[in-house]
Amino acid sequence: MEINEIIEIVREAGNIMLSAKRPKVMEKSGHANFCTETDERIQEFLMKRLKEVLPEAEFLGEEEGQDKFLSKMESGFCFVIDPIDGTSNFIYEYRPSVISVGLLRDGEPFMGVVYDPYDDMMFSAEAGHGAYMNGERIMSTDSPLSDCLASFGTAPYYEELRDRSFDIAKKLLPLCVDLRRSGTAAFDMCCVALGRCGLYFELKIQLWDYAAAALIAKEAGCRITDIDGKTLSYRGATSVLCMARGIKDTPDCFLA
Ligand code: IPD
Ligand code: CA
Repeated sequence: MEINEIIEIVREAGNIMLSAKRPKVMEKSGHANFCTETDERIQEFLMKRLKEVLPEAEFLGEEEGQDKFLSKMESGFCFVIDPIDGTSNFIYEYRPSVISVGLLRDGEPFMGVVYDPYDDMMFSAEAGHGAYMNGERIMSTDSPLSDCLASFGTAPYYEELRDRSFDIAKKLLPLCVDLRRSGTAAFDMCCVALGRCGLYFELKIQLWDYAAAALIAKEAGCRITDIDGKTLSYRGATSVLCMARGIKDTPDCFLA
């Protein structure tokens, strides 16, 4: 299987996102945790088409289907899907929202595709083969943090992490040019990969938020770990700290 097959399927899924109407029906499970009909439609589409390309693969997806990492996913192939990363952006017609498809092999990141259909930005990476945006090789910036924008996610579904998130953000602001919060974790990591931004952190995201984008960032020369500097698990929820190659030392605001 070629990564281009995944890219073409994800591009088609992008058309579903672009043609969807502003959703009327919203399900809410906890603070700001929405699922729309379009999340479900895109997930169904991706599962059907990706299964044709790689019939032996398992699936782990945010909406419907399997949403827990099972030990059987540690061997062989497993697609990890977020049909809309940035669902609240999607609902409020804020931008961007992206589609994220990661492929694990034996529990390790193997391929990743993240697509923003609004700006037609297709990010992709294969382990050991670099990161690309619309077919062009990308690299994270080699500028120091003081010359970079930095971004963070608010871990909106976890009230207990709110104070710590904003404490870190407050200390990070004077160390960088300014802070951003896009509304999609996958896109944030791709922006660090692209060199738009020097750093992204969030105290809790799920495997489907980072499975594809963390590989893209790594292949673009970023250092990507959890908030304590440990290797990402690729097994489920974790904190994430993604730093461009120019940021040599972990900034003080992340040191306990
Ligand atoms: C969310 C987005 C958001 C991040 C949250 C994620 P969703 O994903 O990536 O930027 O702050 O932690 O859960 O719910 O829009 O798929
Ligand atoms: Ca998500």
